[in-house]
Amino acid sequence: MRVLTNINSLNQLLENCRVSNKSIGFVPTMGALHEGHLSLVKLAHKDCDIVVCSIFINPTQFNDSNDLENYPITIEEDIKLLEEQSCDILFLPNVTEMYPQGLNTKQYQLNGIDKVLEGRKRPGHFDGVCTIVHRLFSIVKPNTAYFGEKDFQQVAVIRQMVNSLSLTVQIKTGETIREKDGLAKSSRNTLLSVSQRQKATYVYASLQKIKSLYGKVDCTQLKEMIKDDFNQVQDMQLDYVEIVNPHSLRPLKGKGIKEEAVALMAVFLGKVRLIDNLSLND
Ligand code: PAJ
Repeated sequence: MRVLTNINSLNQLLENCRVSNKSIGFVPTMGALHEGHLSLVKLAHKDCDIVVCSIFINPTQFNDSNDLENYPITIEEDIKLLEEQSCDILFLPNVTEMYPQGLNTKQYQLNGIDKVLEGRKRPGHFDGVCTIVHRLFSIVKPNTAYFGEKDFQQVAVIRQMVNSLSLTVQIKTGETIREKDGLAKSSRNTLLSVSQRQKATYVYASLQKIKSLYGKVDCTQLKEMIKDDFNQVQDMQLDYVEIVNPHSLRPLKGKGIKEEAVALMAVFLGKVRLIDNLSLND
């Protein structure tokens, strides 16, 4: 695997691939890699000749400075894992390389889907995500880019950005990879204490509860049930629970028997914030 920190050398390498008509698959990450990230590298290998992964902890998408300061960094281990997956190129830029003009974000027209759920709770987050993903796309120029369903709204926002800017990159998604007890794999899980880690299983359990009752119980009532459940658990705060249409991200009301739906949640365990989601239809 080639590890490159500099845009010019990456460009040279990728230009050679393009000239020889090789398709480029791209997996952007913030590192502290786990099986969720690696599943996207595997998907990229299935479709593309060359797989590029990036590791860059993007400061502009962190609305909480504490979250940014504590974000796990495990570069040596990440490189080993990517080599095991036969990743071809790792792009590992620093902040100046990615933000030569300073830490500014661009504004994107995203039909409001960036303003609900995570966007409402983390103002500016998706401007940061779009700014960096757009910049990475313009550097790597991938044929296909891979994102995890774990970050359901992020995928919706990126698809919207790609459409509104008429970018040619194809977006593909990979399913959420979970621990044995259902907890979605996340770089932030390593920051949990033993007791927080145990409590974290309530997140997926609650999503499954919503799924089992969806169509039988009114959505508003269902959300109240989950909020009541979380009020019983100490040291864990529900940030939000929502049941929405997966395309518009519009909240569903009533029993919604026939509607497509996805349930999304965010919780705080101490300072660690976890998100997860589950389709209510399959
Ligand atoms: P990061 O949180 O490192 O995630 C990188 C990619 O891995 C994202 O597409 C995310 O959805 C996916 N992923 C994370 N956990 C997963 C899991 N358990 N199963 C499947 N896929 C999973 O998301 C970001 O970084 C950043 O916002 C980024 C897109 C890199 C822009 O900075």
